[in-house]
Amino acid sequence: MQRRLGDETQTGSITIIKNYDDPLPEVGCYASLLNQVFMNLIINAIDAIDRRRKELGEGLRGKIFIKTKLVSKDAILITVEDNGTGMDYKTKAMVFDPLFTTKPVGKGAGMGLTTSYQIVVENHGGDLSCDSIPGKGTVFNINLLVKMNSMLPKSG
Ligand SMILES: Nc1ncnc2c1ncn2[C@@H]1O[C@H](COP(=O)(O)OP(=O)(O)OP(=O)(O)O)[C@@H](O)[C@H]1O
Ligand SMILES: [Mg+2]
Repeated sequence: MQRRLGDETQTGSITIIKNYDDPLPEVGCYASLLNQVFMNLIINAIDAIDRRRKELGEGLRGKIFIKTKLVSKDAILITVEDNGTGMDYKTKAMVFDPLFTTKPVGKGAGMGLTTSYQIVVENHGGDLSCDSIPGKGTVFNINLLVKMNSMLPKSG
């Protein structure tokens, strides 16, 4: 994903802006599970931008920011931010609930964020949270501990 996207990439009419401002330590993680989390967050961001475009009547430059930050010696923060619809406080309160979706029938299962929360919190001992301003956008925060490393079973 990282290699395919480069630093700033046009995908359709959405720009993905990556900002990995700190050299990160190697974080022990279940990479394929965390990739599912990133995919869920990015797909949700694209959906939110598409919906915002429809609200506004097309005149929006869609942007998704992906940032990583070393917040202390042993903790990192990854954020995925979009300038889509944003969410009101009622929606925000339910985003991690199983089967909660605002998408049309047949489009969203309402499981992407439930699964993502499980992966971050239960499989990695981290935290997943979000902040949003209706009409402005949304940011999801993935907090992970670097020391996950020593918690993982040795492979091979
Ligand atoms: N970036 C976002 N901007 C605005 N609303 C969002 C965003 N991410 C999630 N939501 C809201 O949270 C709901 C739940 O998201 P979730 O990913 O769990 O399910 P879904 O996208 O509806 O379905 P799927 O199971 O296909 O992921 C969405 O339907 C949407 O209302
Ligand atoms: Mg989703």
